[in-house]
Amino acid sequence: ARIVVLISGTGSNLAALLAAQHEQECPYEIVGVIADRAASGLAHAQSAGVPTAVVRLGDHPDRAAWDAALAREVAALSPELVVLAGFMKLIGPPLLEARPGRIINTHPALLPSFPGAHGVRDALAYGVKVSGASVIEVDPGVDTGRILAQRAVDVRPDDTEESLHERIKVVEREMLVDVVRDLSRTLAP
Ligand code: GRF
Repeated sequence: ARIVVLISGTGSNLAALLAAQHEQECPYEIVGVIADRAASGLAHAQSAGVPTAVVRLGDHPDRAAWDAALAREVAALSPELVVLAGFMKLIGPPLLEARPGRIINTHPALLPSFPGAHGVRDALAYGVKVSGASVIEVDPGVDTGRILAQRAVDVRPDDTEESLHERIKVVEREMLVDVVRDLSRTLAP
């Protein structure tokens, strides 16, 4: 299956998806990576020879124009699946409506608990003893889509946001690769 990955950050999830392509009989190919800013993670795509694009909100007159530009950029790559891997913006109607059920997102908490941009920090502040990562289908809400997979991570008494997030990211990227593999086998073009 043809996959487009959207990122905003360091791209460790993207790197895991790229690395897994070299494993035998990988059922997907990353055909493009799009960021909403000059994300350092774009370097992973560049060194793998995967085309990249940056679609900045600030380069567009308003949010609707940015939504439309992002949808066009994705459509040009004609993917079967769009993977949000640390993409820190909501997906607007143009892209969502073009690809119902074909956009997935990864989140560093056990949804429906602790949605939003600070899932790790919020879980830690609440005092949960177990957190983890979720892969969901993207819908118009904030981290409200159907849950496709989850993995748990124990919280340690001395955890900081950074230490907990690092351990979550280890299981998160393994899970994301598994889900993308599974979906790629079942999605018809
Ligand atoms: C991931 O934990 C993602 O769920 C969260 O931000 C992190 C992105 O990491 N929203 P990376 O850019 O893939 O390294």
